[in-house]
Amino acid sequence: MVNQEDVFRKVISHAKEYGYVVQSSEIYDGLSAVYDYTQNGAELKKNIKDYWWKAMVQMHENIVGIDAAIFMHPTTWKASGHVDAFNDPLIDNKDSKKRYRADVLVEDHVAKIEAKIDKEVEKASKRFGEAFNKTEFLTTNPRVLGYQEKAQSIIKRLSRSLEAEDLEDVKNLIEELDIVCPVSGSKNWTEVKQFNLMFGTKLGASAETATDLYLRPETAQGIFVNFLNVQKSGRLKIPFGIAQIGKAFRNEIVARQFIFRMREFEQMEMQFFIKPGTQKEWYEKWKELRMKWHLSLGMGAENYRFHDHEKLAHYADAATDIEFKFPFGFKELEGIHSRTDFDLSNHEKYSGKKLQYFDPELNQNYVPYVVETSIGVDRMFLAVLSNSLKEEELENGTTRTVLKIPAVLAPTKAAVLPLVKKDGLPEVAHKIIDELKWDFNVVYDEKDAVGRRYRRQDAAGTPFCITVDHQTIENQTVTIRHRDTMEQKRIAIDSVNDTIAREVGIRNWLKKTE
Ligand code: GAP
Repeated sequence: MVNQEDVFRKVISHAKEYGYVVQSSEIYDGLSAVYDYTQNGAELKKNIKDYWWKAMVQMHENIVGIDAAIFMHPTTWKASGHVDAFNDPLIDNKDSKKRYRADVLVEDHVAKIEAKIDKEVEKASKRFGEAFNKTEFLTTNPRVLGYQEKAQSIIKRLSRSLEAEDLEDVKNLIEELDIVCPVSGSKNWTEVKQFNLMFGTKLGASAETATDLYLRPETAQGIFVNFLNVQKSGRLKIPFGIAQIGKAFRNEIVARQFIFRMREFEQMEMQFFIKPGTQKEWYEKWKELRMKWHLSLGMGAENYRFHDHEKLAHYADAATDIEFKFPFGFKELEGIHSRTDFDLSNHEKYSGKKLQYFDPELNQNYVPYVVETSIGVDRMFLAVLSNSLKEEELENGTTRTVLKIPAVLAPTKAAVLPLVKKDGLPEVAHKIIDELKWDFNVVYDEKDAVGRRYRRQDAAGTPFCITVDHQTIENQTVTIRHRDTMEQKRIAIDSVNDTIAREVGIRNWLKKTE
């Protein structure tokens, strides 16, 4: 069986080797949980953002996009509840002096129980072969039912204790489950304490007059405080949405899964403003639409699932995660939250300004309710990268490393390769590039034998290689090689652009969401 830790390690080293992601300030030994996107990473990230923006803003007549500042008036965070409630429960191990999120320690314990269920399923499926019925097995096997009950009761108790701010019970739970520190192996724990995740900074010239600010922990508040500006200037009618892509900052304590949990990251958020009472219907609608967006990328329906929240954030009356199967298991990729009128009402209260919508149909003012969709760009990036990296055994007994990034998101769409560095072939290759570069990000590569160049482009995730050879000079044709199938075809130079466009164009990919 493939060891998932090895898979994850490979993803991280591949990301560095092929120009995707490196640790920030690496020459100074790096900064923990902060990363830089290098040449291919910057392109992939941009393509993910474009794919989201196109689907959310351009394809919806009633959704507009904004770009609000990272710095916001400090009262914003009092009104939003982040000053008082944006906390993580932390616990220290007295022997290793390591700090952990108490809820994550418990959740990791539950994940181990769930892994036992997966093992039972795997064993049974081998034993019963074709006749194996997974659903029946999961609902009838006594051992599996026992594990499920145990996992559920732990999560229920954790949610109850966190909801009631009963931190003593969270510690009791950790002790009762015999959870040990992964570093020291001991159970010598401190009390559980709340820790606010916002980064503070100062605005102003001198220490005496400076104002204390926070770096925004979510982009959503920039949308809420601009709700009326956008609604009025755009004459928008409810239901309508405001979308935004931008940086967010959180002083994360458990930051050990590469770009999964970062201190500086990027979010793609959309707040959908609706009539009070319609939130259930819109919440379901956005769950469906967002899942379709994910599935349109063809990364395998079996790799996604919804996970409804037991413990709701301070602003929500319903919430679910779209979880993705990362190499370290199913984890949150996107959140969909029914945020009620919590944010707008509180901004009204703290600012003293009316943030209401006049509904011409009802002839009445009200504070709209909000359904939010919120996805981390970096998490989406990790989902794409980890899902795409494959080691393939080839028919001739060799293996190849290939990054099967959905072509619409691939950083470079095509590499143009002259077969040899002479006989006018490089000049023709450059001419082809000059034509393609108007529409696509393309590269030129003439170093090494063509087979090695194909492998290099496979590993970098380039969907097409266009090879210029002597026949090109004679009849204006090239070979086009497809990354995923390795199939090669001879086509006219004139048709290269259209062939690439068909496979990488956003239109054809997003059509799958209809
Ligand atoms: N406005 C709602 C909100 O911020 P969240 O569930 O805390 O909700 C939304 O965050 C998404 O942002 C998550 O689903 C995840 O994709 C991303 N995200 C949150 N914290 C992150 C972190 N520390 N590093 C990377 N991505 C993060």
